[in-house]
Amino acid sequence: MLDYIKKIEQEALSELGNIKNFPEAEAFRLKYLSRNGLMAKILDQMKTLPQAERPRVGKVANELKSKLTLEINYCLEKLRVGASSLEKIDLTLPGLNYQLGCLHPITKTIEEINQIFISLGFSIVDGPEIETQRNNFEALNIPLDHPSCDAFDTFYLKRQVSADEKTHLPAGRQGWAQIKPSEKLLLRSHTSPVQVRFMEKNKPPFSIIVPGKVYRPDATDASHSFMFHQIEGLAMGENIRFSDLKGVLTVFAQRFFGKDTKMRFRPHFFPFTEPSAEVDISCIICSKEVNKDSHCSVCGGKKWLEILGAGMVHPNVLKAVKIDSEKYTGFAFGMGVERIAMLKYGIDDIRLFFENDLRFLGQF
Ligand code: DAH
Repeated sequence: MLDYIKKIEQEALSELGNIKNFPEAEAFRLKYLSRNGLMAKILDQMKTLPQAERPRVGKVANELKSKLTLEINYCLEKLRVGASSLEKIDLTLPGLNYQLGCLHPITKTIEEINQIFISLGFSIVDGPEIETQRNNFEALNIPLDHPSCDAFDTFYLKRQVSADEKTHLPAGRQGWAQIKPSEKLLLRSHTSPVQVRFMEKNKPPFSIIVPGKVYRPDATDASHSFMFHQIEGLAMGENIRFSDLKGVLTVFAQRFFGKDTKMRFRPHFFPFTEPSAEVDISCIICSKEVNKDSHCSVCGGKKWLEILGAGMVHPNVLKAVKIDSEKYTGFAFGMGVERIAMLKYGIDDIRLFFENDLRFLGQF
């Protein structure tokens, strides 16, 4: 039987090669593939075979039937459109367009900022998003009666870590070991508590940056989100001065926003630094424009954009982490990643970052 099928296959293929018109194609179909055609007969004969042979022979016969069906369809298509156009490939036709994904603009911004600080000798450090009240506030010289400790500015967690839980710490959660069972837990409202964690475990000199998520119960609008990202910076050593802070931040701003970017330090108050400053850069939009008088939607005509807070680490913070403030000094700074990404990429609404807009996840 298998030999017979093989023979039919050879005959059919040679007949296929000779088909020149529709009547010949139809004759072929009738001969091999119609209800009374040869393939139907072969499949009908399966019943006469011994049971054990049926599956193997049946498979070969069915494969031949499919092959002849494909071939005759192709032959009909060639007759319909003309053989030459089927066989020619038009290389000028546009190809298939694959959609490429890419890094989210927030991830890209964090990466870019990290690289600048790495090139200046900083290391990247991270810390937990669930923090203690002590690390988020008290050790940073923010008294608990300070308004920002209020439940309105911070998400407090209902649950506290029990003494029993502390004895079963999962790997990589050693940070929890510091937590006293009675301590209040919260979602960190800034990345500054990682300063406390790091300084408690490491001796100066060091310089670190800490990218990460922070949480605040703000009503969401074009410039507020209950979750956003910050990058914290901290450098500590003997003889570190405010001029070092200015130098590092100026290099950062010029590399990130462009070499002509100017910086302005305005006196400010942060409990964890003294002196403290808010840092502005010259507006990246209207400084590029030829007509300086035109109204700028980014800086509102002020020509300056606030990008971060900074200062010299307060001696009380050093005391809380048992670093000798007579011997060591350091600077710290903190910036909001979304704000910086919005300025750099000209995005006017923070909510766009979190809506999974495909334009943010594809080519950017
Ligand atoms: N933690 C501040 C905030 O969330 C930002 C900040 C300001 C961090 C000054 C600092 C600093 O380290 O020195 O608003």
